Amino acid sequence: MKDLFSRMENLEHELTYYRGEYMRSHVQGTAFDHVITRNSAMESIKNQAYLSAQGSSTVLITGESGTGKELFAQAIHEISGRPGRFVKVNCAAIPEELLESEFFGYADGAFTGARKGGKPGKFELADGGTLFLDEIGDMPLALQAKLLRVLQEKSFDRIGDTVSRTVDVRIVSATNKHLEDLIAERKFREDLYYRIHVIHLAIPPLRERKEDLPLLCSHLVQKLNKILGKQVQGVTPSTLERLQHHHWPGNVRELENVLERAMNLNAGDWIVPEALPAFLANAEPLSLPAPPLLPAKLPAMTHSKRDVIAAAERDLIVAALSECGGNRSLAAERLAISRSTLYQKIKKYQIEERSFFESKSPYP
Ligand SMILES: Nc1ncnc2c1ncn2[C@@H]1O[C@H](COP(=O)(O)OP(=O)(O)OP(=O)(O)O)[C@@H](O)[C@H]1O
Ligand SMILES: [Mg+2]
Repeated sequence: MKDLFSRMENLEHELTYYRGEYMRSHVQGTAFDHVITRNSAMESIKNQAYLSAQGSSTVLITGESGTGKELFAQAIHEISGRPGRFVKVNCAAIPEELLESEFFGYADGAFTGARKGGKPGKFELADGGTLFLDEIGDMPLALQAKLLRVLQEKSFDRIGDTVSRTVDVRIVSATNKHLEDLIAERKFREDLYYRIHVIHLAIPPLRERKEDLPLLCSHLVQKLNKILGKQVQGVTPSTLERLQHHHWPGNVRELENVLERAMNLNAGDWIVPEALPAFLANAEPLSLPAPPLLPAKLPAMTHSKRDVIAAAERDLIVAALSECGGNRSLAAERLAISRSTLYQKIKKYQIEERSFFESKSPYP
């Protein structure tokens, strides 16, 4: 009997997965296409999110910092077809005394210094749309009680107002905290928890889906190319190998920062390991590159082998100088060549050193 139930549960999961897959494959280009993954757990979360997006049930998105919670929230809103706006409130960033007026707004003359004519709160702004409550675990208890009331009654009052206003708002919340623990510590209301997590999407950390790294790297490099006005082709296989070894506590955001930094420091077409911050680049001793260009991309006809090697060597030197803030002795040491050899190569490749002294690394 127990077996039968567990088989049924598995089949149900499979059904949800394939239903989502089917629907996504029949709709050209959905907002979920921006959520890059090849991990099966993530695919199934994407499908679940897609299926639930059309309704108006509350959605709770949990996951470590940088796992893509906001990306999911936006995609859910886009797919929902709700005509109103996507309005975000960061519950951790607003001072407690301002939270209530941020949420509910205030009436004309509600307090000294209040704006004439009053001010709408986020609930009104999100009418017909989605209210994204980011970092909901940090919401003060007093406000949790008020939020619960709005969710139950679907109406609220502006501060200092006498009329109640009715709104149609879909609530999507996110947190990197364990709300169950906060409930046990009496920092989060259990009744609110049940209200906000009719649908629960738990995004796994990047370290549990490292198969996503190659795809994420290409996607993020393309995205950064547009922002930085560069034409970087991607990461080299040896760079990817080092990225695979990292624990990624900051998840996709950390990966994005690492790639952005490398693209700013590295003048080459490909991101070589030496353009990575020290804690990643030093994962293995520095040696001259494993072919820094993927074979498919080798400029076979127009460039000689010597040109390719020279370009790679130049990239390496630029990366090492950047890493070492322009310090030639340190850079030579990292490259395992003598100072004078490094000096000759700087001259040979006409490397402009001044820029490295000014570059500030975001990493210690
Ligand atoms: N699966 C993914 N595919 C593509 N980009 C992603 C993915 N996951 C995250 N990102 C990108 O990583 C960055 C961080 O994502 P996001 O802000 O959604 O994370 P978060 O979970 O809300 O983080 P935090 O808890 O720190 O607020 C964004 O630039 C986002 O576009
Ligand atoms: Mg976020």
